[in-house]
Amino acid sequence: MPIEQASHVPDFLYGTAWKEDGSAALTELALRMGFRAIDTANQRRHYFEAGVGQGLAAAYLAGVVTRADLFLQTKFTYQRGQDHRLPYNPAASLSVQVAQSMASSLEHLATDHVDSYVLHGPSSGYDWTEADAEVWEAIRKERDGGRTRLIGVSNVSLRHLEQMAAAHNEAPAFVQNRCFARVGWDRDVRLFCRERKIIYQGFSLLTANTEVLRHPLIIGLAQRANATSAQVVFAFARAIGILPLTGTSDPEHMKQDLAARDLTLPEDAVQAIEMLAE
Ligand SMILES: NC(=O)c1ccc[n+]([C@@H]2O[C@H](COP(=O)([O-])OP(=O)(O)OC[C@H]3O[C@@H](n4cnc5c(N)ncnc54)[C@H](OP(=O)(O)O)[C@@H]3O)[C@@H](O)[C@H]2O)c1
Repeated sequence: MPIEQASHVPDFLYGTAWKEDGSAALTELALRMGFRAIDTANQRRHYFEAGVGQGLAAAYLAGVVTRADLFLQTKFTYQRGQDHRLPYNPAASLSVQVAQSMASSLEHLATDHVDSYVLHGPSSGYDWTEADAEVWEAIRKERDGGRTRLIGVSNVSLRHLEQMAAAHNEAPAFVQNRCFARVGWDRDVRLFCRERKIIYQGFSLLTANTEVLRHPLIIGLAQRANATSAQVVFAFARAIGILPLTGTSDPEHMKQDLAARDLTLPEDAVQAIEMLAE
């Protein structure tokens, strides 16, 4: 589906990694604070997807949101990215693993479809492999079956994306990557995405760029805008077309992260931040 037709794409994602027993309460809190898009994964090693589902259920019950208000995104993770708590039979084919992982996610999240389904990372750090091609086709099948509206890939290089484009006749709707300022905030991949109307989701915007948060340019902009350095980074990210993720556990930070949507930086400041760490 061309991205212009992909209605209901959010402007901020709340990430649920590393929350363990706090997953339910923090998901519910994020919804109460105003987040409407949740990122998770069926990868028990780093995410507790069933806990996220409990948080959603609590928010529905309390009348905070309905399923229709939400954008739910989850991921398929290869066995090598998992621990022993697998959401599929590892002896099954990759296509079957995708279907089993999706069925398990829908059960965890108590829904009949997610809004976005993402390949957590290609099987090789270098090439787009035959395994990835099989998984991508299986993910497309999930979409065609109505179990996800949109599909995407994560942790990809420009090389992966170019090889993927050569191998398949459908581009992802989303790319989700760690965004390092020192490589122009993942400029190569972002430009590839922009040309093809792929929405770029950026994570670790704060944790991968601690030197940026301390930079006098950012501190000065924050002071002038009566904002925090973190808010300046999120506002910058949005200004260059990144759909940001935050996984904050702090209610005050949740409020600040969402409020960064209302912060507009001068164009010259946006350009300066983009060049900052190169
Ligand atoms: N696809 C992948 O492989 C992948 C990998 C990593 C992450 N992700 C996704 O991205 C989400 C976000 O992960 P992340 O790597 O960006 O890290 P994160 O979990 O969001 O951590 C951000 C850090 O920044 C702090 N923070 C957030 N807002 C702040 C604010 N306004 N002021 C000051 N500090 C603030 C948080 O501390 P406090 O909690 O104290 O606020 C936390 O220490 C994850 O939950 C996950 O959904 C995906």
